[in-house]
Amino acid sequence: MPVQKGAEVAPAKGKLGVLLVGLGAVSTTFIAGVEAIKKGLAEPIGSLTQMGAIRLGKRTDNRNPKIKDFLPLASLDDLVFGAWDIFPDSAYEAALQAGVLEKDLVAKLKKPLQKIKPMKAVFDQSYVKRLTGTNVKTGKHKLQLANQLIDEIAEFKRKNKCDRLVMIWAASTEVFMKQHAVHRTLKSFEQAMRDNHKAIAPSMIYAYAALKSGIPFANGAPNLTVDIPALMDLANENGAAVCGKDFKTGQTLMKTILAPGLKSRMLGLDGWYSTNILGNRDGEVLDDPDSFKTKEESKLSVLEYILQPDIYPELYKDFSHVVRINYYPPRGDNKEGWDNIDIFGWLGYKMQIKIDFLCRDSILAAPIVLDLALFLDLAQRTGMKGVQEWLSFYFKSPMTAPGLYPEHDIFIQLMKLKNTLRHLRGEDLITHLGLEYYD
Ligand SMILES: NC(=O)c1ccc[n+]([C@@H]2O[C@H](COP(=O)([O-])OP(=O)(O)OC[C@H]3O[C@@H](n4cnc5c(N)ncnc54)[C@H](O)[C@@H]3O)[C@@H](O)[C@H]2O)c1
Repeated sequence: MPVQKGAEVAPAKGKLGVLLVGLGAVSTTFIAGVEAIKKGLAEPIGSLTQMGAIRLGKRTDNRNPKIKDFLPLASLDDLVFGAWDIFPDSAYEAALQAGVLEKDLVAKLKKPLQKIKPMKAVFDQSYVKRLTGTNVKTGKHKLQLANQLIDEIAEFKRKNKCDRLVMIWAASTEVFMKQHAVHRTLKSFEQAMRDNHKAIAPSMIYAYAALKSGIPFANGAPNLTVDIPALMDLANENGAAVCGKDFKTGQTLMKTILAPGLKSRMLGLDGWYSTNILGNRDGEVLDDPDSFKTKEESKLSVLEYILQPDIYPELYKDFSHVVRINYYPPRGDNKEGWDNIDIFGWLGYKMQIKIDFLCRDSILAAPIVLDLALFLDLAQRTGMKGVQEWLSFYFKSPMTAPGLYPEHDIFIQLMKLKNTLRHLRGEDLITHLGLEYYD
């Protein structure tokens, strides 16, 4: 990740291919959204790269360029989309099936969406128990499947005349896995692929193919995937940027907005109970206890890190944190998330906060996919390789350097992100100290 202040950033010329693993609700809402924005039918709300500004210099300098004007980011017109899925439906059919966007809007985008047909997936039902599909690759062993992906990536680049590529995992959440001895080195990882070892999940095969091809990889689900030494070594060796895990949307987004606020005022926490109903395919997959376990781990870690019970035992020791996801088909993608928060204040007096968030998961996730594609491409053009901690802002379980605890507080994450951009451009970092105004 280290990069020099004011580093050279190669221009964003030519096409950027965005390769999506999974062509479900999130991916189609992202692609359709970009197409709608390009046609002038909608605004890129929720996207920091498109809407965000960045303050430069002193408060009195009045320099607040848009982020997209401050740095050479790929333009939406230069994006080309590719995908893999276990279902053969085009992005048009998949968008209708996902039911996130209104049919009228999807119909207006039929032409570009219909052109996106998913390539055959690397899939094994033992890792996502609730799904079966037909659009699946076959091969003697996992390394062979990886090589098929590598060939497809090269072919996609050639056919679409792309200058650069990024890969983003927006496929279903796999079952919970821990690091295994075969994940330790690239050599043992490749041997395990040849041996069809159980510790090599499909998501790892995609990540391997991306990194082997020297293209950056983002993990939008909580799967272990690229968060293992073998693949991190490969990323560093091949100069590829990596980030993850699990897009921060919905309830966890709210948690990382609210918890830092409670902590900033030294308000205590007895418990935080979160429950959701959702009825999309993601909800169905998460109805399987093994996939839910992966998600649960990702969602639970947030409060522990933000509240730091070891530093503030009087306020946060032993608080109860429960997260539930209930599959409830009538709601489709329109999730409802309830939080009951038991807090205490001055002299230990108890209070409660209730949140009822009627949210749309994929509407919150789509701009994250866009920002990650553009920022990962920027990182790549700047020669930033390995874990991109400055992109923690977008994730429920941010990846970090080994031994470092992740930063979950969304405000610190945003400051880290913006300071990284300032650093890249040779601008002064903003510390908010502000003493200079009182000299
Ligand atoms: N929507 C959100 O707000 C949000 C937030 C955080 C994380 N996520 C994660 O993002 C992922 C996508 O969410 P979604 O709502 O689009 O789900 P979805 O079920 O609509 O789409 C996932 C797609 O991935 C496909 N798939 C599964 N395994 C595959 C494989 N091995 N190769 C290729 N395709 C495969 C499925 O067929 C499906 O079409 C999920 O893992 C979800 O947990 C979503």
